[in-house]
Amino acid sequence: MRIDIITLFPNMFSGPFAESIIKRAIDRQLVSIAIHNLRDHTWDKHHVVDDYPYGGGPGMVLKPEPLFAAVEAIKGEEQVPVILLTPQGRLLCQDVVKQLASYERIILICGHYEGVDERVREHLVSDEISIGDYVLSGGELAAMVLVDAVVRQLPGVLGSEASASGGSHATGLLQYPQYTRPRLYSGWEVPVVLLSGNHAQIAKWRREQSILCTLKRRPDLLPKAELREEEKRLIKERGKIA
Ligand code: 6GU
Repeated sequence: MRIDIITLFPNMFSGPFAESIIKRAIDRQLVSIAIHNLRDHTWDKHHVVDDYPYGGGPGMVLKPEPLFAAVEAIKGEEQVPVILLTPQGRLLCQDVVKQLASYERIILICGHYEGVDERVREHLVSDEISIGDYVLSGGELAAMVLVDAVVRQLPGVLGSEASASGGSHATGLLQYPQYTRPRLYSGWEVPVVLLSGNHAQIAKWRREQSILCTLKRRPDLLPKAELREEEKRLIKERGKIA
């Protein structure tokens, strides 16, 4: 997969993409990520990318010309999804992540200031995404979050395919509690079932813990989770008590 990112702050990306899973995916050529400075797509002496809003009001607005020029230069003749990171976008969730991971290429535009000229939204961008209901200073951190979530979905990126689908949210449920050594820490014991070596029992316990944890912390996720009939009964019983 190839990901192009258009930003006013290219340096912000050097840290996160040079570590851990994303770095390994780049090194193994499972993904290529190119960062483009929006200012490189201006022709005026002062490389102006923003201007005052028509009609007045606070803040600045990203001008259309540099954004159109940047996207055109990056995509050439290809049809590529162009995604604007903005608080007005649809909320990023694991289903959206999977959809994005299925594309050969994507172009990300990091929004900034009070916003972007509406003609960019209407005629350049094919999708708008937000990473949550809070305000960030710009789209860069949101783009990094999106890239991380997408890259881990690409085939071969994670050690075992199970890790990609096993974690929180991939099943529509929260992760079950994890323990490691020591078996007794500060008087607190590891649940005995995990020491039993009985893999069927362990799987059953984990599934139940996932369901109960989701019921307690994120009941809003349960309607979309895939649950067996007896699991729905468990939720009904515990739901009443909780
Ligand atoms: Cl994508 N951008 C900004 N500026 N703030 C956000 C966001 C994006 N997603 C959540 N908050």
